[in-house]
Amino acid sequence: MTVTDGVVSLKHLVTMETLTNEDVLGIIKRGIAFKNGAADFQLSRQYFAANLFFESSTRTHKSFEVAEKKLGLDVIEFDAKTSSVNKGETLYDTILTMSALGVDICVIRHSEDEYYQELIDSRTIQTSIVNGGDGSGQHPSQSLLDLMTIYQEFGRFDGLKIAISGDITHSRVAKSNMQILKRLGAELYFTGPEEWYDSAFDVYGHHVAIDDIIDQVDVLMLLRVQHERHHSEKSFSKEAYHEQFGLDQERYNKLKSSAIIMHPAPVNRDVEIADQLVEAPKSRIVAQMQNGVFVRMAILEAILNGKA
Ligand code: CP
Repeated sequence: MTVTDGVVSLKHLVTMETLTNEDVLGIIKRGIAFKNGAADFQLSRQYFAANLFFESSTRTHKSFEVAEKKLGLDVIEFDAKTSSVNKGETLYDTILTMSALGVDICVIRHSEDEYYQELIDSRTIQTSIVNGGDGSGQHPSQSLLDLMTIYQEFGRFDGLKIAISGDITHSRVAKSNMQILKRLGAELYFTGPEEWYDSAFDVYGHHVAIDDIIDQVDVLMLLRVQHERHHSEKSFSKEAYHEQFGLDQERYNKLKSSAIIMHPAPVNRDVEIADQLVEAPKSRIVAQMQNGVFVRMAILEAILNGKA
């Protein structure tokens, strides 16, 4: 695969599926340049961004805000709890209003899968939509920061053995990552409970037991158990999950010396990963959070390029 220095230009970012490999590599490289202080950036005029989070978030919300402020954007406060959403305003009408007010970019997290479709199909709404997570659908900025973290570590994706582990069916992170990782040449494995796996994912990789793959992977990507999306959950034992599927010290010791552990966070300590391993030498969980700011600067820049 050739890494290009192309300038990326986007109208919206709602799913990884519409990004080309060149777009992905361009955003990663630009994120790395922002991180290294090597990126020249100047706004051509005043731009406004609003972060509209209708589901809880720490990392995505606050790292977009930091990224926006680092780029010099004016950030418009929005709190769903005190907005006219409480008076029955629809998401469409909230974004129509933001657009009418002159907000250039809306970063949105919402519980409805593909909430963004009617917004980007609208002929009236002019604001660019950046998807900060839609239901169990997509989480493209998380995927791009994950890819940046892998690229910084290995300098490639081709031939890397990557295991995505845990609550895969409910995870927008897994869904955003599986297709693009395969497209970039990685060899994918899935581990975790069979009931949180769908045979539709077989086109991207193989479902295996974690103990059959732990000593071979370059990247172990753990996922949060998403209780809020489990509608009829049988009794769940944290201890049993950790023992059967989680990363404990014994499994950690079997990882290759060059292997890394990732998790989008928030982490359920002692469930997906043992408490003492969250900040262990092979863990890149803190690096992922740091990279989130820089890759989001690159995403916002690509959106601004689309407006030039
Ligand atoms: N990884 C992630 O999306 O974290 P938040 O829910 O805190 O934004």
